[in-house]
Amino acid sequence: MRQLFPVFQFIQYWLYKVNEHSLHSPFLYRFYTEVIKPDDKAGFEQLEDLRKTLLSDSNKLQVVELGAGSRIDNGKNRKVADIVRHASTPPSFSRLLNRIITQQQFSTILELGTSLGLNTLYMQQACPYGTIYTLEGSPAIAERAKHHFDEFGASNIHIIEGNIDDTLGLALAKAKQIDLAYLDANHCYEPTLRYFESILPKLHHQSIVVIDDIHWSKEMNKAWKELIKHPGVSLSVDLFEGGLLFFDREIKKEHYVLSFKR
Ligand SMILES: C[S@@+](CC[C@H](N)C(=O)[O-])C[C@H]1O[C@@H](n2cnc3c(N)ncnc32)[C@H](O)[C@@H]1O
Repeated sequence: MRQLFPVFQFIQYWLYKVNEHSLHSPFLYRFYTEVIKPDDKAGFEQLEDLRKTLLSDSNKLQVVELGAGSRIDNGKNRKVADIVRHASTPPSFSRLLNRIITQQQFSTILELGTSLGLNTLYMQQACPYGTIYTLEGSPAIAERAKHHFDEFGASNIHIIEGNIDDTLGLALAKAKQIDLAYLDANHCYEPTLRYFESILPKLHHQSIVVIDDIHWSKEMNKAWKELIKHPGVSLSVDLFEGGLLFFDREIKKEHYVLSFKR
């Protein structure tokens, strides 16, 4: 039954999703037509080569399970290929993260859940002179991600190893403010809300918080529903793959389910 939850959620998403023709907010119309909708694959070839290489890598890494984990239980030693297959977003969502950072000219990024660093690198490519903090709890996975960051010469990525329950405070203490926070680690209800509350004081009116896997489980769906009602959140956008939260008080509090091509 647990595996069917996202299927039912997708049917609902498909029934409710709208496009730019239903948008009344000028801000969201611009954001949708200029950031969410246009998708250009050019410029990401090296990162997609890395994804392909990882997807055929049968070496095993020891995984320390700190979050809700994957639906497929591959035991504590998992093939790199399986880690990537189950943990990473579709390339279209990786490109969206890159576009948001580029178009908003963001320079301080916080990622919860590095895994092998694919989306960290997508985000880094959008702000090569900014600062990216990324948090990962599995030492072997963090080690491998560091290796990828070195290969790409991404010296502005700061990976902080350990349980996010302990490391989030350290990361936040280093950053004056956070432009974009990408929550993609512990896919459970309570930590999602707790991490969000911890990050909130570091956000400014143009910050964006991206929550991954909002329809992955009942718990994540419940967390998402509470986040969109949060008094600090103005606009919220459901793209099925993930949700976007905006904080500009000038924007009317609204919620949209928007079409997004995987
Ligand atoms: C879905 S994956 C992240 C994928 C990555 N953001 C990407 O887009 O390629 C989730 C990662 O979060 C890590 N994680 C889950 N709960 C954690 C916690 N409480 N502390 C630290 N890391 C955690 C897992 O080890 C896993 O590598």
